[in-house]
Amino acid sequence: MNDKIKTLELKKAEALLGGGEKRIEAQHKKGKLTARERIHFLMDEGSFEEIGMLVQHRSNDFGLDKEKYPGDGVVTGYGTIAGRLVYVFSQDFTVFGGSLSETHAEKICKIMDLAMKNGAPVIGLNDSGGARIQEGVVSLGGYADIFYRNVRSSGVIPQLSAIMGPCAGGAVYSPAMTDFILMVEHTSYMFVTGPNVVKTVTHEEVTSEELGGAHTHATKSGVTHFACANEIETISYLKQLLSYMPQNCEEEAPGLPYETGNEEREGLNSIIPVNANQPYDIREVIEQVIDDSSFLEVHKLFAENIVVGFGRLAGRSIGIVANQPAVLAGVLDIHSSTKAARFVRFCDSFNIPLLVFEDVPGFLPGTDQEWNAIITNGAKLLYAFSEATVPRITVITRKAYGGAYDVMNSKHIGADMNYAWPSAEIAVMGAKGAAEIIFKGEISAAKDKNEKWKEKENEYQTMFANPYRAAERGFVDEVIKPSETRIKLIRAFKMLENKVDKLPKKKHGNIPL
Ligand code: HXC
Repeated sequence: MNDKIKTLELKKAEALLGGGEKRIEAQHKKGKLTARERIHFLMDEGSFEEIGMLVQHRSNDFGLDKEKYPGDGVVTGYGTIAGRLVYVFSQDFTVFGGSLSETHAEKICKIMDLAMKNGAPVIGLNDSGGARIQEGVVSLGGYADIFYRNVRSSGVIPQLSAIMGPCAGGAVYSPAMTDFILMVEHTSYMFVTGPNVVKTVTHEEVTSEELGGAHTHATKSGVTHFACANEIETISYLKQLLSYMPQNCEEEAPGLPYETGNEEREGLNSIIPVNANQPYDIREVIEQVIDDSSFLEVHKLFAENIVVGFGRLAGRSIGIVANQPAVLAGVLDIHSSTKAARFVRFCDSFNIPLLVFEDVPGFLPGTDQEWNAIITNGAKLLYAFSEATVPRITVITRKAYGGAYDVMNSKHIGADMNYAWPSAEIAVMGAKGAAEIIFKGEISAAKDKNEKWKEKENEYQTMFANPYRAAERGFVDEVIKPSETRIKLIRAFKMLENKVDKLPKKKHGNIPL
């Protein structure tokens, strides 16, 4: 028996070495951790159980029969993070550049299937040269097997992707179908075709970093939700993100213990500037309303005219969507609409209540927006809010103009509670634009144009640029002092704790994609 145990130990020791010392050293030299080191930092100490450590590829082409590594370039298994079950796969760049073979794909699929059956999140740590070139179509099939599972799992269990090295070709599409992507600055990139192909086809000269680095995807494309300074920070964000989510769509996110104290927030009374055209940072409002230091902003560098992220209110996990008056006056445009729509749908999939702060002058006008389909893209946000069945509350802090009033979780599209601050202005459009249209004749006839203009503008301003017309109709449930926002929200979310709302029976809706 001792000999047999020795054989087992030798095999395991070989697997632990991945592609060997030299390649591990090369990995470290690039500033990257190995697949196993990443798992070590991610999971609770001693909790990781590996599955498929001795799996090997089955290919004999191009001399591969002589080059086999136990594990075949991916470490898979399960364990806990903060005591909660999680499945993980971590690609090992030291084995064939982490490329995806038939068996490599089978290992990933195995843990995805287990995760679905047991209702727990999947975390993918991606570091791969893409399809294992020597295996051809078998590898492509392996990718498709993963894509199919990504889609089947979507909305059932949370799926998180950290990109910690190259991620090219079809390999980008599995992360793209997961709920959140995190990239490491300078050592990771994602693109469908790399710089060489780009140069051949479009004659553009571009580096990997410019084409598909973390900064590019965090700011320009919005493909990644987080751009992290290094791998340890990426792992820390993965853990934080998980803490706001339930294990699956049947459960609630875990709460933190909370003791009531003084919930008045006097500071909120002085955040809105006297001049309605002056910006302020909506994050100040968010941070004063929710539990201390509980805000985790998502997609921070992309479409900054809307802020989305997770927070806690009285210990309970919530999703926050807020117009940002400090950027483009908080206007809704294509990117901010799609950013917020995706976040709303995630929260709704996983029973996370939604809190909306509204200060929006309307949709951004212009040919760029119209020709790139602000109609279809703006509709995504309208659709996402309208279909959300989780508890939903809106606080109008200042402007709620035009179609954007409807879109931003208005009472009419199913919000449960709608509050407004006394500074709220709820109308079809701003007073100046409105006066120009409805008093057009009078204004042009008037000799003393400037004075008349102002007078008519003021008339509209007095009549509509306040929350009271909407409150009279019940479109706003209560006009509240900013300082009492926190307590009102705590009570309202508690009141909505057992909300039951179901969509009509259907196969699935047809969101305007
Ligand atoms: C097999 C691969 C590989 C691959 C890398 N390797 N990519 N082996 N299949 N796809 C191996 C290398 O031979 C090398 O082996 C080791 O991994 C490290 O690679 P290097 O090139 O030395 O590393 P580096 O300089 O860091 O460059 C990394 C890289 C580059 C940028 C990823 O290797 C690369 O461009 N690889 C090919 C990428 C690619 O075209 N993939 C296919 C995409 S198409 P040794 O033995 O020397 O250590 C695709 C289709 C999927 O994925 C479609 C799904 C729908």
